Amino acid sequence: MNVNGVAYRSIWPIGQQAVGIIDQTRLPYEFRTLELGEWRSVVAAISSMQVRGAPLIGVAAAYGIALAMNRDTADAGLELACRELLNSRPTAVNLRWAVQRIRARLSGLPAGDRLEAAWREADAIAQEDVAINRSIGSYGSALLAQLHARCQRPINVLTHCNAGWIATVDFGTALAPVYLAFDAGVPLHVWVDETRPRNQGLLTAWELAAHGVPHTLIADNAGGHLMQHGRVDIVLVGADRVGRRGDVCNKIGTYLKALAARESAVPFYAAVPSPTIDWQLADAISEAPIEERAASEIRIVHGLDRNGLPGSIEVAPPASAVANPAFDVTPARLVTGLITERGIVEPDELAGLFPEAAAIS
Ligand code: MRU
Repeated sequence: MNVNGVAYRSIWPIGQQAVGIIDQTRLPYEFRTLELGEWRSVVAAISSMQVRGAPLIGVAAAYGIALAMNRDTADAGLELACRELLNSRPTAVNLRWAVQRIRARLSGLPAGDRLEAAWREADAIAQEDVAINRSIGSYGSALLAQLHARCQRPINVLTHCNAGWIATVDFGTALAPVYLAFDAGVPLHVWVDETRPRNQGLLTAWELAAHGVPHTLIADNAGGHLMQHGRVDIVLVGADRVGRRGDVCNKIGTYLKALAARESAVPFYAAVPSPTIDWQLADAISEAPIEERAASEIRIVHGLDRNGLPGSIEVAPPASAVANPAFDVTPARLVTGLITERGIVEPDELAGLFPEAAAIS
């Protein structure tokens, strides 16, 4: 995607010595890129959310293992890096998918061949991510075009968190249909949930503004009201882990949007790249690992002060306890459809679209 006229991906290899990333903790106030030369820096970048978004977390982990092979190609080195990367964040299943894939690729190789193979595999995972998102974009943009054809007016999309190009290698998942439909001339507007406490909605607004897509930033609690008043035509969100029955685990607050959508008969879609499907997960509500993040994310708000300088303030009463679950699960019964790289299906049809993966689970 373009940033100030320059084409960017959200992660890129620098030879076989380092990877470049965009520091998402500084956005949207500052566009800063970083060069990570050590695998432990990738672990830190994932847990601190300098890189975030399920697909990007997976790709970053793959490059993390490639960096680890620059230090130690022996089994011990490989296992240590896999273990620590896997522990960097618990919910996005893309992390496990990528680590397992690259570990399986390297384990069968002599140590001397692992470095080259690791970088090649990480690059392949990154390329596939872009191709998957492009395909999700084209299936989803057809859906938006149909909606427009039916409504015969600009359509209003509501999205939660950031599932845009910056949360993937490129194109995004839930935002890919928005970009492709907009570029194809479908008139649309996006309601963008702020998405407290980490405000990923500000990343979505930043992306949409850069692409010229009309959008409005809203408080997380405004969506239900807008749906009730017929001002939302479709809800489009991303996913961090989708169970084999089609339950969708995504950013905290997504479930509430699905409930409001059902109440107001608004279609609710999740964009789901196949690496985000957890075929071993039967009952996501009771089994999906939900990350609990630091209380400081709620206690402290970051932004720009009057002089336009980055700053932060404490907003919570110090005596109050704080809980910060970072994800929730929307049961399949509230999901109208899943937009995958192989097409759009109802939740209970997911296995039919990926028979080879469903068969081995
Ligand atoms: O905590 P985050 O910012 O990593 O959570 C991200 C989300 O919940 C996204 O919606 C999801 O990962 C899909 S990103 C294409």
